Amino acid sequence: MKVLICGYGRMGQEIEAALLSRGHEVTARVDPDPNRGDARSLSAELLNGSDGVIEFSLPGGVVTNAAIYYSAGVAAVVGTTGWEADRDAVREIYHAEKAGAALLYGSNFSIGANLFRVMSEFAAQIIGPIQDYDVMMFEKHHSGKQDSPSGTAITVAESVLNAHPRKNRIVTNRLDRRIEPNELHLASLRGGSVPGTHSVEFDSPADTISITHTARNRGGFALGAVLGLEWLSGRTGFFSVEEFIEDVVAQARRTHD
Ligand SMILES: NC(=O)c1ccc[n+]([C@@H]2O[C@H](COP(=O)([O-])OP(=O)(O)OC[C@H]3O[C@@H](n4cnc5c(N)ncnc54)[C@H](O)[C@@H]3O)[C@@H](O)[C@H]2O)c1
Repeated sequence: MKVLICGYGRMGQEIEAALLSRGHEVTARVDPDPNRGDARSLSAELLNGSDGVIEFSLPGGVVTNAAIYYSAGVAAVVGTTGWEADRDAVREIYHAEKAGAALLYGSNFSIGANLFRVMSEFAAQIIGPIQDYDVMMFEKHHSGKQDSPSGTAITVAESVLNAHPRKNRIVTNRLDRRIEPNELHLASLRGGSVPGTHSVEFDSPADTISITHTARNRGGFALGAVLGLEWLSGRTGFFSVEEFIEDVVAQARRTHD
């Protein structure tokens, strides 16, 4: 595919490496920073000759950019975070089907982290009904991380809650009391250079079952975004990364059956 990269910061550069490693061609790198990329602003003309675009930039431009992707009829993967308030406005742009126009968005494009969420949800579904087992979660990140718990941890906790018959509340603060049986405790630890570790533990008097995802670098996000763009080929509409992963898992199950 011929792909334009929008936002040529840390992730944009990872995206370029992932695109080239999968045999794709980069048509342009758009970034307002004069020291980054080869085009300063996005336009429909710049997208002429591209099949798709991958955006990891800043949230302020997402609605304007999505309108350009849609009118140019190119498939778009948007990994930029922090535009939840504009989600409906972008969804509205994609409400009418238009040839080639499809947008896939998500706050975590790592295939591994998404599979970890699916596995945690499935584990909660099959272990949850067994009274002996409780469930808890923790996550660790480097000292530079601004927020806690991580967005990924919250998404995984929500998936566990969704599937678990006895849990209906996530508790993220320090507990100065006993935990209630309906509560899922999610703890955060910050320090060092840890790139991101998430764990779900099912614990009984006899044993512990742990599911852990450990990120090593940004390459996993970039590869997931490129695979997401390939998945969009032939589709039209507005999709979340969760829908993309559900489809990947369903395909794997069909192959196995
Ligand atoms: N979805 C995921 O899996 C995932 C993973 C990592 C990071 N992110 C998100 O991706 C985004 C970028 O992260 P990063 O680490 O590369 O940040 P970064 O600061 O290194 O790069 C962002 C780049 O976007 C450029 N930019 C700003 N406005 C722009 C616009 N309107 N058009 C094009 N480029 C523009 C900036 O000049 C900068 O070079 C952030 O929102 C981050 O939270 C998402």
